[in-house]
Amino acid sequence: MAKSTTIPASINQLGILGRRRPPPCIRTGLQTGTITSLRRFGVHALSMNYYGMRCPIADNIVRVTVNNALQSDPTLAAGLLRMHFHDCFVEGCDGSVLLDSTKDNTAEKDSPANLSLRGYEIIDDAKQQIENQCPGVVSCADILAMAARDAVFWAGGPVYDIPKGRKDGTRSKIEDTINLPAPFFNSSQLIAMFGQHGFSVQEMVVLSGAHTLGVARCSSFKNRLTKFDSTHNTDPDLDSGFAAKLSKTCTAGDNAEAPFDETRNSFDNAYFNALQKKAGVLTSDQTLFASPRTRNIVNSYAMNEAKFFFEFQQAMVKMGLLDVKEGKAGEVRSDCRKIN
Ligand code: HEM
Repeated sequence: MAKSTTIPASINQLGILGRRRPPPCIRTGLQTGTITSLRRFGVHALSMNYYGMRCPIADNIVRVTVNNALQSDPTLAAGLLRMHFHDCFVEGCDGSVLLDSTKDNTAEKDSPANLSLRGYEIIDDAKQQIENQCPGVVSCADILAMAARDAVFWAGGPVYDIPKGRKDGTRSKIEDTINLPAPFFNSSQLIAMFGQHGFSVQEMVVLSGAHTLGVARCSSFKNRLTKFDSTHNTDPDLDSGFAAKLSKTCTAGDNAEAPFDETRNSFDNAYFNALQKKAGVLTSDQTLFASPRTRNIVNSYAMNEAKFFFEFQQAMVKMGLLDVKEGKAGEVRSDCRKIN
């Protein structure tokens, strides 16, 4: 059974990365990388400068590897961002999503929810280069968190630093992916699931803004286009012109892709503008505008991109701390696809 993934209460209460802006002493701590302030959030061993002594080049290797890969294929920025989310929501941010299945174990990555994850090779490439420089020091979980951060920036999103020092987990089970939200969730279900992981309503909405990058496949939204429910053929929250466009996409089959917004490789607030036009691709996207509990938050990000960027990076740092394994609770894998 999956262990529930929650942010330590101390993190939430201090509002480190949540809705409230943290007090200046904490902000300073996060920016300068001292571990003192992070101790106060219950995450003892993490720090901005964790690899400063033992592998100072790690950050740079990840950045260059991600930049090179995205230059060849800009669509992979979305893949890296999503992979980090799927790692953190299942067993915490411990690189469990990166593990391959074995003869005796079907891993998270083979769950239907993860079959369209992309970008594993970028993590492998960065890991190999880092192992060549400083073997056994930098965890796969940290490499993935850094890669997601660099992908957001590369696509035009906010620049931010993240604490490092996550250890890699040894458990990766297909059944644990039940902890991932489903595309047909409504806002109450999303609020409940993100709430279980320690996120506020605002943080759930801002994290959903990750859908400013990338695509969904027809299989994730075709239920909205025909025989939607007993009274509607098409989802009434969907603009009819946009529904026709999605239906046309789906004539190419279940794997046909629809971009979440008109700028699929740019990190911007176009996703929230699309929701206002009833052009959200998934039920879980459009519900954020349809529901009075979240509509005002959507409107605020649609109107103010800087606010979206600022709150997104705060929520991403918080997400990156979900059930982090520290010290002996984990290992540093030498190959991200296998436990040591
Ligand atoms: C709020 C609940 C969420 C639901 C229900 C959800 C669901 C989905 C689904 C169904 C897809 C398309 C998969 C496919 O059809 O192949 C997708 C794509 C994506 N998701 Fe989410 N997601 C959620 C939140 C998030 C969060 C919090 C992030 C990151 C912080 C994220 C990042 C992405 C990205 C970047 C893509 C595009 C991937 C690509 O183009 O390869 N999602 N999501």
